[in-house]
Order: sequence, then structure tokens, then C-alpha cells
Amino acid sequence: MFSKLLSSIFKRGNENSTEMHFDTTQQQENTMSNHFLDLAKQRRTIYALGKDMPVADEEAIDTIKEAVKQAPSAFNSQSSRIVILLGKEHNRFWEITREQLRKIVPADHFAGTSAKVDGFAAAAGSVLFFEDQDVVKTLQEQFASYADNFPVWSEHSTGIAQYAVWLALAEKGIGANLQHYNPLIDSDVKTAWQIPESWKLRAHMNFGSIEAPAGEKTYIDDDQRFIIAK
Ligand SMILES: Cc1cc2nc3c(=O)[nH]c(=O)nc-3n(C[C@H](O)[C@H](O)[C@H](O)COP(=O)(O)O)c2cc1C
Repeated sequence: MFSKLLSSIFKRGNENSTEMHFDTTQQQENTMSNHFLDLAKQRRTIYALGKDMPVADEEAIDTIKEAVKQAPSAFNSQSSRIVILLGKEHNRFWEITREQLRKIVPADHFAGTSAKVDGFAAAAGSVLFFEDQDVVKTLQEQFASYADNFPVWSEHSTGIAQYAVWLALAEKGIGANLQHYNPLIDSDVKTAWQIPESWKLRAHMNFGSIEAPAGEKTYIDDDQRFIIAK
């Protein structure tokens, strides 16, 4: 792979100047890394979401799909499974959630809960993140010595996929927040969208137009989270 890259660099270098090409590549890499950190800062939890999306539905769908496809997974197992809901299907998701919450929230508190659901339903769409447990089981059988790791790596994989989608949506100017009404809603969700039995719901990303900016974010001291040795 690396030798292929080198040979393509030299091939192009012969057409123009090899040295020039290295400079340009380095510059591109620098710009890309700056873009990435800018984007990482831009991605925030946005609760005030609306339906006035800055891009067409198809572009949002393609963005989500590509972000998930490019996300890494253990042994390239590609265990993440995704359901994208837009329009009335997104609203249906929130009605399912509302009705399940009604069963567990005390009646005198439910008005507040229901208003919160209305706020979430005001967004344009939902991404449901599942992990296919059949993939996990097959890997456990194939590589018995790693059996304990595969469920953990599956959780890592969905987290990476969630972050990738969150960033990719942010890049398009689409806001998002991450929710976890699973496992309360699992059974109804499976029935509503004919989800395969082996798909386990892990998280739900609500997305839409940004109607108000994110709240202030605080950070712990670097000393508490980083150890640098050199
Ligand atoms: C693993 C994980 C679980 C989260 N679960 C929820 C959730 O259930 N509900 C919610 O409103 N936000 C949830 N969040 C969002 C966090 O509260 C949020 O990312 C954090 O406060 C930092 O804010 P930021 O996203 O604006 O950087 C979750 C985030 C992560 C990474």
C-alpha cells in the first residue's frame, strides 16, 4: 500500500517536480489536519433542532452512509447497522418513544416528558445505530482466543461510527444530539421498521437544522487526562 503511494508520488513527480509535489502533499496534510480539528470543535450537542435542513435529504443520507462505511471496525467486521428515519418516519419514532415513556413516567411528571419529546421530534431526522450480534457471535466462534473482546470492540465500533456521523453532519451544517431511549423502545422499533432480530440498538442520533447554538462546554485540566512521556 505504502509502496503504491510512493510510486504514485514519484510518477506524478516526474510529470512536474518531485520536490514540489512533496511540498504540496505536506501542505495538504497540514490543512487537512487543521480542518479536522476545526470540525471537531464545530461538532457539538445541539438540542434546538428544526426541519429546515441546509442540504437535501439525499445528501444527508449519503453523508451518513459514507461516514459509517469509512469508520473502522475490529477485524474489519463492519458490525454497525444503521436505520435512517426522515419526515413522518422520524415523527413515528418519537411517538413510539413517547408512548413507552408514558408507561414508566409518573402521570404528574409526564407533561414535562412529553414536551421534551416534542422538542426532539421537531428535528428533521433520526439515525438509529445498531450492532449486529450475529457478526459478534461469528467472530467469537472463529477467533475463540479473542471471544471476550468482540462484544467490547463492537461497542467501540458503534462509538466510532456515531462520532464519524456526528462530524460528517456537522461539516454539512447539520446539528445533532445523541439519545439513548434503548432498551425501552427496542421491541417497538424492531416491529415498526422490520429490524432483523440480531440487530441490537445502541444509540439514536437526532439531527436537523441548527435553531440555537450549543451551550457552553467546560473542560477538565489537561494534567488530569494526559500523560506525555518522551
Ligand atoms: C457515549 C455518549 C452518550 C451520550 N448520551 C447522551 C444522552 O443519552 N442524552 C443526551 O442528551 N446527550 C448524550 N450525550 C451527549 C453528551 O452529553 C455531550 O456529548 C457532552 O455533554 C459534551 O458536549 P458536546 O457534545 O457539545 O461536545 C452522550 C455522549 C456520549 C459520547
